[in-house]
Amino acid sequence: MTTTTPTPEIAENGKPIFQTIWQGDSRERLTNPKLTGRVNCIITDPPFGVDNKSNMAVTKHGQDYARKIANDENPEVAIKTFKEVMDVLCPQTSDDCDMYIFTAHQVLEEWLGVGRWLHEAHGFKRNALLVWEKDGPGMGDLEGWGMGHEIIIFLKKGRVPRYADRRNGVLHVPQLRPNQLIHPHEKPTALLEMLIKHSTQPGDLVVDPFGGSGSLVRACRKTRRSGIAVEYDEENFKMAMDKFKAEAGGLF
Ligand SMILES: C[S@@+](CC[C@H](N)C(=O)[O-])C[C@H]1O[C@@H](n2cnc3c(N)ncnc32)[C@H](O)[C@@H]1O
Repeated sequence: MTTTTPTPEIAENGKPIFQTIWQGDSRERLTNPKLTGRVNCIITDPPFGVDNKSNMAVTKHGQDYARKIANDENPEVAIKTFKEVMDVLCPQTSDDCDMYIFTAHQVLEEWLGVGRWLHEAHGFKRNALLVWEKDGPGMGDLEGWGMGHEIIIFLKKGRVPRYADRRNGVLHVPQLRPNQLIHPHEKPTALLEMLIKHSTQPGDLVVDPFGGSGSLVRACRKTRRSGIAVEYDEENFKMAMDKFKAEAGGLF
């Protein structure tokens, strides 16, 4: 375990605020009994099963990180992995808990099926499909529609109190430029901050079991939430830690 904030700050509600990135397989790392009942929100961008090596890494810098994504071979492998992770993580969630799952249009049907499974198996019911509009035509059919957006499946268990203003489910946030990426699927923290603020309050705990660049814990730091990300790939993990430390500055 690597604790990235050595001295937790205490939130107004008395909860300690910490951010952590763990290296390993979430199926093992998230079995920690200390987490039980404490996870207030799950925000995750799992391998979708599209065998994506990288469609963002167009620079030399980006190409260095354009490695294969673990458990992304096909939808069957990706969904099996996701369900096994959720079988460990969902029992750790509090009674009132939101979940966000990024997905891809090529495998949307399969992932809507995963949403139904989450309801039956763990009580998370699909509530909305959000759209992240990335500011530009993006990839996709060059003679047809660009795919400058991603779909986010939003699910709810129980009833999370809302503190932020009600907002449109289309979120306009520019994607990161290739030379800003340390991971081919790195999400902008500004986007994650919107989701975090909608679903939690300072001191709450948000978990990303498919951590990648650690973007979720960086967004948690900026919004004073606790955050845990688990990343399987050792190289990704090291880069995620370095980026977290560089942004947090001088604590380590
Ligand atoms: C789509 S990427 C996540 C990118 C992330 N949202 C970001 O903003 O950087 C999915 C990540 O899940 C990791 N992964 C795959 N299987 C895993 C597992 N069983 N446990 C933990 N991480 C896993 C992959 O190594 C990959 O980095």
